[in-house]
Amino acid sequence: MMWTHCVFQLIGPIYSNPEIYFLSNFLHHSEQPAPKKMESDINTGPMRVLVTGGSGLVGKAIEHVVLQEGGKLEGEEWIFLSTKDADLLDVGQTRAVFEKYRPTHVIHLAAKVGGLFLHMKENMHFLRDNLRINDNVLQTAHEMGVTKVLSCLSSCIFPDKTTYPIDETMIHNGQPHDSNFGYSYAKRMIDVQNRAYFQQFGRRYTAIIPTNVFGPYDNFNIENGHVLSALMNKTYKAKTEGTPVTVCGTGAPRRQFIYSLDLGRLIVWVLREYEEIAPIILSVNEEDEVSIKEAVEMIADALDFKGKIQFDTTLPDGQMKKTASNAKLRRYLPNFTFTPLQEAIKKTCDWFVANYDTART
Ligand SMILES: NC(=O)c1ccc[n+]([C@@H]2O[C@H](COP(=O)([O-])OP(=O)(O)OC[C@H]3O[C@@H](n4cnc5c(N)ncnc54)[C@H](OP(=O)(O)O)[C@@H]3O)[C@@H](O)[C@H]2O)c1
Repeated sequence: MMWTHCVFQLIGPIYSNPEIYFLSNFLHHSEQPAPKKMESDINTGPMRVLVTGGSGLVGKAIEHVVLQEGGKLEGEEWIFLSTKDADLLDVGQTRAVFEKYRPTHVIHLAAKVGGLFLHMKENMHFLRDNLRINDNVLQTAHEMGVTKVLSCLSSCIFPDKTTYPIDETMIHNGQPHDSNFGYSYAKRMIDVQNRAYFQQFGRRYTAIIPTNVFGPYDNFNIENGHVLSALMNKTYKAKTEGTPVTVCGTGAPRRQFIYSLDLGRLIVWVLREYEEIAPIILSVNEEDEVSIKEAVEMIADALDFKGKIQFDTTLPDGQMKKTASNAKLRRYLPNFTFTPLQEAIKKTCDWFVANYDTART
């Protein structure tokens, strides 16, 4: 589906007066009067969008939506950054790249991310690096009059002990899981900064909360990759070596997976249309949550793997579920159609096999 077609069909009737919706929501949250927007910063021409982390899984998906699916509108400029353009840990390099491109809008995806083991070992690095990257990007955007910044949180930053489904109001309601508290608190601070930039300066900086993302350009590393992409790599290896696939744990935990291209389409919608400062969860429906066992069977199907799938139940399962509510998203976009999981897994497996030599493994 063309992006433009898809988005115009999807905007729900509740969005008839976004300003009132946005302000009432914010005021309810903070009980502070909304400050006036700075006249000098109101951007009326076509957007110039800077995407930090533009070379990663999510950045590449946005690039596809923008350049291949008609997501880019006439006169717009989209710039996709990687560490080669600027190390955003460094405030001088951050300012220089903002000076160079003078963006009107920023999609901030860049982050220090890693597998479970690295998170557990290096909570301090994940905390400090992400705090620095986020502060450099948000403060530079503010100083240079960027109209809107959309930053990326993650559903793994929610409190460890919680009720389900989790929703956007629950981010700060308790401690995150011990394994990745450094990354989680740094990400939570983005929401705090967004509220403060709005309260003090009227900035419309917001955040999205995706669930488990997968797709082309993912990290397929078996030890450090995300669960689906690591399983794809494992299954492909097992197929070529004629061995069984061994899945860690019982296969019972359930997860909501979002295809990176669906996320890319939703991010472009958020950038153009979503006016709240409060974050929004971008996820498939609760009933679309699947078990790891179901997911690995879909991967086996997609890769035409006929061997045995076994479960190493001596290994931990992790959290049994992390169900997130997409009710807020559905209020805005009741008709958004997510790519069926089996189809998205097939597309990702096909991409992985075709790009095996260059993929992150
Ligand atoms: N993947 C998921 O399941 C998931 C779920 C929820 C939220 N998120 C969030 O979504 C965002 C994007 O994730 P992703 O999966 O696309 O990550 P990714 O594939 O690992 O990409 C990370 C991106 O950040 C850039 N980067 C890292 N450190 C940087 C630095 N110091 N300076 C400049 N750029 C830097 C990388 O550049 P290089 O390519 O040059 O290294 C890369 O473009 C992150 O904020 C992540 O926390 C991801």
